[in-house]
Amino acid sequence: MIRFRDFTYAYPTGEAPVLHGVDLEVRPGRFHGLVGASGSGKSTLAMAAAGFIPHAQGGESTGEVTVGDLVVADTPLPDLVTRVGLVQQDPFDQISGARFTVREEIAFGCENLGVERGEMVRRVDEVMERLRIAPLADRSPYELSGGQQQVVAVASMLVMRPEVLVLDEPTSQLDPAGSRMVVEALAAVRATGMTVLLVEHGLELLAEHADELHVIADGRIVAEGPPADILTDPRLDAWGIGRTRFTAAAAEARRDGLWPRSRPLPATLDGAAAGFRAAANGELE
Ligand SMILES: Nc1ncnc2c1ncn2[C@@H]1O[C@H](COP(=O)(O)OP(=O)(O)OP(=O)(O)O)[C@@H](O)[C@H]1O
Ligand SMILES: [Mg+2]
Repeated sequence: MIRFRDFTYAYPTGEAPVLHGVDLEVRPGRFHGLVGASGSGKSTLAMAAAGFIPHAQGGESTGEVTVGDLVVADTPLPDLVTRVGLVQQDPFDQISGARFTVREEIAFGCENLGVERGEMVRRVDEVMERLRIAPLADRSPYELSGGQQQVVAVASMLVMRPEVLVLDEPTSQLDPAGSRMVVEALAAVRATGMTVLLVEHGLELLAEHADELHVIADGRIVAEGPPADILTDPRLDAWGIGRTRFTAAAAEARRDGLWPRSRPLPATLDGAAAGFRAAANGELE
């Protein structure tokens, strides 16, 4: 669906490339997570996936990014928006400035796409319900908290139903319950066939919902695979990525000889519970 082939990119103002030889495949109907330390290139990769690079940012690139059969660099942004939607890292950047209420703001993209009015109203109501922002419908988008703006930004993209949704840390200003709600909403739309690429610090949410994780370090993809493998990889510290509480707790227990030796470390609550239960039943090999 989205494919990076040996993609190297430098911003117009920077001398050195910030993405190096990226090969990455986002497959249809799957939930992909992108993780990496601050400054590793996550936002740059997200913008390149959605065509903001090169169309809005310029810069120099080699290699190629494709969305389905479209070469991103050769496809004008308006032709890309139904294929791939981007929720930017700063939700304030995402507010259109053209609408007075949250409801109108969420509808704005659909209006531009020419979605029929009745259908648009249905979609807007549904997405506000799903993301629990119906009570904000008549507020100004500018009066909201950062976290509320983030949820509105997610809603504004979901409502357009792009084939692929790329989200750049859409939960960074939300509390744990809000973050969980947003990621569960993404898991729900992914179950309807939408493809998701999520940049996210909440490793426990990724462990639970992502099909595949990509690790970026200094602009290079350094590891890819199922969350259970990536999030228990011994190189996590070197990549500048934390561990889930479940992995950390099990690792500590293992040091004390209280985790079954042959059992891999867990990244989820269920995995941790199963391991501790086995240990409590005397299974320590
Ligand atoms: N507009 C820009 N012009 C020049 N350099 C930039 C620009 N935006 C980002 N960079 C540089 O590119 C590199 C990657 O930045 P990017 O924002 O993609 O990282 P990130 O992983 O998203 O970081 P964070 O976790 O802080 O959001 C950094 O070294 C950053 O300084
Ligand atoms: Mg970023």
